[in-house]
Amino acid sequence: MTTFLALETSCDETAAAVFTDDLTVLSSVVASQTDLHARFGGVVPEIASRAHLRNLLPVVDEALGRANVPLRDIGCVAVHNTPGLVGALLVGVSAAKALALGLGVPLVAVNHVASHIFACRLAAGRDIFPCVGLVVSGGHTALFRCDTALSLELLGGTRDDAAGEAFDKVAAILGLGFPGGPAVEREAAGGNPKAHAFPRTFIDDGRLEFSFSGLKTAVLYACHGQDVKRATPPPPGPRRADLAASFQAAVVDVLTMKCKQALRKTGLTRLAVGGGVSANKPLRAALQAMCVKEGAELLIPPLALCTDNAAMAALAVEKWKRSEFAPPDLDAEPN
Ligand code: KG4
Ligand code: ZN
Repeated sequence: MTTFLALETSCDETAAAVFTDDLTVLSSVVASQTDLHARFGGVVPEIASRAHLRNLLPVVDEALGRANVPLRDIGCVAVHNTPGLVGALLVGVSAAKALALGLGVPLVAVNHVASHIFACRLAAGRDIFPCVGLVVSGGHTALFRCDTALSLELLGGTRDDAAGEAFDKVAAILGLGFPGGPAVEREAAGGNPKAHAFPRTFIDDGRLEFSFSGLKTAVLYACHGQDVKRATPPPPGPRRADLAASFQAAVVDVLTMKCKQALRKTGLTRLAVGGGVSANKPLRAALQAMCVKEGAELLIPPLALCTDNAAMAALAVEKWKRSEFAPPDLDAEPN
């Protein structure tokens, strides 16, 4: 049995996890930097890198401690080296290289987006491939044909903003704080999703592509009229709740329709969904209802595995089995 230590520092969560080669997760620790970035209304890359530097070793110690595994028993080190903020990724990559070198064990590099899909495999506890994969996070909105855990073919992505980015920007417009997704979801619960007919870009279009920047602008104008420059966020009340609910409904409709089109186009009957936005309850309900109608199986991990974490880097086990090890000069690749 080989025990893995995995690191994740691609954006604003510093995370470490310990798991075994049979995909048993022994511990998963996530240190969020949300408080540090909140007053800027978004992730500040330089602050993220510095916070990773401070947090990483304590998080690794915590993960090893909770797993009750001494560092010397680690047989492989895994790290997300792409995509993400370059300075943030570099902290994890440098630490992982040092740990692997010091321990004299292999290093495996995995793709953060592929890991979000693999979180569904982890949660399911059984093989889920082939499937359609949807990754919806703050940095990504993309559909994949996933023949295996490691062979992902891009079916289509976003032309501009990612869905999570749209949630964060709309939260800023509505004065709901950061991170925006959970705040918009809470606000939307008290609103009318039909109050505003916001655009559902590409919804009737066969292309498996997304665009959310027009939707964000539509919310901005519905909120403030033409006077957007001097506008202050709307006060709490039904108007604000209606804007949040109508925005969320538009995102949910588009994501659900594109998943349906991807299932039909590929002929696959499983949909695996990952990334922070998949924590959204109305989205989960809409995808579930669509999958029932389409005769497809929906796989969405529990919330802790949806948002950024290092346990999902258990995808590294698949590479390790094939001896696909990273070179000692492994680099961080932002795109
Ligand atoms: O996967 P993730 O933790 O980090 C990235 O790789 O980006 O995703 C974070 C994104 C943020 O944009 C956040 O606002 C969004 O996921 N998010 C949500 C919810 N929880 C997090 N969006 C909608 N509803 C939620 N409940
Ligand atoms: Zn992510």
